[in-house]
Amino acid sequence: MLKWWQRGAIYQIYPRSFCDADGDGVGDLPGVLSRLDHLVDLGVAALWLSPFYRSPMADFGYDVSDYTDVAPVFGTLADFDDLLAAAHERGLKVVLDWVPNHTSDQHPWFQDRQRRRRWYVWRAEPNGWQAQFRRGGPAWAPDPDGAGDVYLHSFLPEQPDLDWDEPEVEAAMHDVLRFWLQRGVDGFRMDVVYRIAKDPALGENELHRRHDQDWDTMQARLAGIRGVLEEHGDDRLAVGELHLPTQADVARYVNWPAGLHLAHNFHFLELPWSAAAFRHGLTEFYDLLEAPAWPAWCLNNHDYSRLASRHGEHAVRPAAMLLSTLRGTPFLFQGEELGLRDVPIPPERVVDVDGRDPQRAPLPWAPPAQAGPGAGFTTGEPWLPMTPDATQVNAATQAADPRSVLTLYRRLLALRREQEDLHSGAIAFLDQPEDADVLAYRRGDDHVIALNFSPDPRPVAWPDGANVVLSTHLDREAGAAAPANLRGGEGVVARLS
Ligand code: GLC
Repeated sequence: MLKWWQRGAIYQIYPRSFCDADGDGVGDLPGVLSRLDHLVDLGVAALWLSPFYRSPMADFGYDVSDYTDVAPVFGTLADFDDLLAAAHERGLKVVLDWVPNHTSDQHPWFQDRQRRRRWYVWRAEPNGWQAQFRRGGPAWAPDPDGAGDVYLHSFLPEQPDLDWDEPEVEAAMHDVLRFWLQRGVDGFRMDVVYRIAKDPALGENELHRRHDQDWDTMQARLAGIRGVLEEHGDDRLAVGELHLPTQADVARYVNWPAGLHLAHNFHFLELPWSAAAFRHGLTEFYDLLEAPAWPAWCLNNHDYSRLASRHGEHAVRPAAMLLSTLRGTPFLFQGEELGLRDVPIPPERVVDVDGRDPQRAPLPWAPPAQAGPGAGFTTGEPWLPMTPDATQVNAATQAADPRSVLTLYRRLLALRREQEDLHSGAIAFLDQPEDADVLAYRRGDDHVIALNFSPDPRPVAWPDGANVVLSTHLDREAGAAAPANLRGGEGVVARLS
């Protein structure tokens, strides 16, 4: 029996940019509630909310100053409870973003650092560990009290790393999970979770061995987290963000019996848009998984240039079909269902420290000609510019268009829900003509999918008796023989009769 997080797709909401109910230009929780029917119509099983906790917003909410309250810009705890209830009424699960590796420097724990020294990571002087983000540099900052030593920040100096080797830290972070589990949330996306296990000796990184992440303590730490989830039944999801060097590293986390249920595997966000590269990467990952480990796939999130910009328009529709028909849980990032591109940000509007504003621009809900320049996202001035494409690329216009990207996603996710083959069936890749740039695979007994990664027409070798079920361009007749040639960027789901 598959779990809800195996059968259904999960949709990432970046609350700042989803929908603004109070007109201040920043999305909020009441805004999310007001648009839940979009998710129902899209046909996802769950939403994952990027952080909405109290935060000074140095990293737009990934610097948390109170894990158990809502930032005023996003609403109140009562708004959260309303949202959760409204989602559950519609049969949608709710997954929160839990940021266990670091707090904000404004968190009371860090403010209380004199007494809670052991909750953070200190050293007399920096070692060679480097901070993430483009600005990089040493991952160490001077003690704000001038004591002479330095504290660890794997990201910004405003994000001091917690020391998970301190049992009180682990207990406190488990209590954060319990707080939200008791309110009724269905799971957690765990921010940079591989970083909560570090070499306690703070040894230097080596070529093939990082000491600042993914340490031997990882498995026990995940087992502790799973234990907390299981206090609340066996249906709460743990999905982890894993930026690790190889797919084998990622697979370990879901192969561990008390590891993660799902892992975000970023290998595919780094690959060129090529059928051969995807076939190789997918085959490798499927082969690395040991039953009952379950794969998950994402092609977009709030940290990466959007696929439509990264690979071009011709990749949008086949990517939708790929994500919805692979064996494994699809994760979508808001706007992906509209084929949204990165939004150009003029220098004076740049707000993120790491160049990620273009993919975080607000979601267009309705044509500006009807809804005003905020395109239904806001009645105010949006915190990041609205896409210049909002006239065509908006939810209302695409919902009314039987051939839009949104309609394609709705049809694909509906098909995935209906067809056992597509959520549960085995996957087997099918050989194609050399250099065709076509990825083809069989799902279960009866379904075959072929995707043309090239912008130009390409031939496909179908098994006998393949008939069209659904095509990316939504213009092929269902039941017709599967086409011997696909147009550029075209994909077809076929059924074997
Ligand atoms: C994760 C988040 C990213 C954030 C970083 C630090 O990578 O996805 O947005 O900046 O962690 O918390």
